[in-house]
Amino acid sequence: MPPQTLPARPGKWLWTCRAGFEPHLYEELAWAGADPRLLGEALVESEGRQGLAPAFARQGFRVLASLRQGALEPLATAVGEAVAALPPAAPLVLQAFTPDTPQGNALTAEAEALREAVRARLPASRLLAEEERAREAGALLVSLCMAPGITVVGAVPAREALSLAAGGRRRMRRAGESPSRAAMKLEEALDALPFEPGRGEVCVDLGAAPGGWTQRLVARGAKVIAVDPARLMPELASHPRVQHVRESAFAFAPDEPVDWLFCDMAWRPLEVAQLLAKWGRRGWASHLVANIKLPMKDKNPILLRVRHTLTEDGGWKGLTVRQLYHDRDEVTVMAHRR
Ligand SMILES: C[S@@+](CC[C@H](N)C(=O)[O-])C[C@H]1O[C@@H](n2cnc3c(N)ncnc32)[C@H](O)[C@@H]1O
Repeated sequence: MPPQTLPARPGKWLWTCRAGFEPHLYEELAWAGADPRLLGEALVESEGRQGLAPAFARQGFRVLASLRQGALEPLATAVGEAVAALPPAAPLVLQAFTPDTPQGNALTAEAEALREAVRARLPASRLLAEEERAREAGALLVSLCMAPGITVVGAVPAREALSLAAGGRRRMRRAGESPSRAAMKLEEALDALPFEPGRGEVCVDLGAAPGGWTQRLVARGAKVIAVDPARLMPELASHPRVQHVRESAFAFAPDEPVDWLFCDMAWRPLEVAQLLAKWGRRGWASHLVANIKLPMKDKNPILLRVRHTLTEDGGWKGLTVRQLYHDRDEVTVMAHRR
């Protein structure tokens, strides 16, 4: 790890990740031939590549400028000049974040002050009012990444961004009625999809207990077949749209194909991937959202095999693999059959 955060070079890409996962992100980028360079905690730079979407990156953008930390007003002016040089056609969404580390998080208030000072320097007509519509509006996400000693300014089209949240740090307030923290992982995964399970659709939830995911699916009006030998929350076990199958997911087969397959089983990744591939091959579900546990040191070789199993053996298409903000030693995979 460099003793001080290194400046990112204009024209390169800056990626941010969960702290401690820099080696995995670096390795992924090296395997993709993108010539990575570790800049500091939670920050890796690389060459840009069409369609590059590393699993261990929370957010990535093309670097416009790296500026040494200094007084707020001159820094805001320099950032404002870099932002003003962006193509005028696209509306802008201005975001500030810090690396997700104790040192980075100590800069949160300063980063927010910088964002406000830069915002004040830009004509209001350039900024998108409804930020949640960034993709539909063809907006550019402008990121101000404030790290110890350096602020990096960069941009990425919202449609190509790994996340719409600043630095991919998709914070969510825990829903009051939610039975488990895992529910937030599902909410974040569904956020990334263009559509989600709706009223009357049938979902199978493998490894469902105690029921965080099942609860979020039921709340959307879906019917859920919850497969887990362990107990579900009592209100879910007796819910009219929940069927609890108390057996191993490896023994379970649906009576007929379902709309969605969800899986958050605490089990070995390659065996889970083979199970999900079986569902794909047999056409048992149209959409897949699964959390794959990666407790081992060497994560990328396992991920490569998981990807291969899902696509080559399982026929799952449009596969995305992402370590979401709420994922710890795990990644979330999403795919569909057609
Ligand atoms: C991380 S928890 C799932 C949390 C759940 N998604 C929620 O939101 O509440 C993992 C679950 O996987 C289940 N599990 C492990 N092996 C399984 C198997 N072979 N078949 C079904 N469930 C399994 C465990 O019983 C445990 O309840």
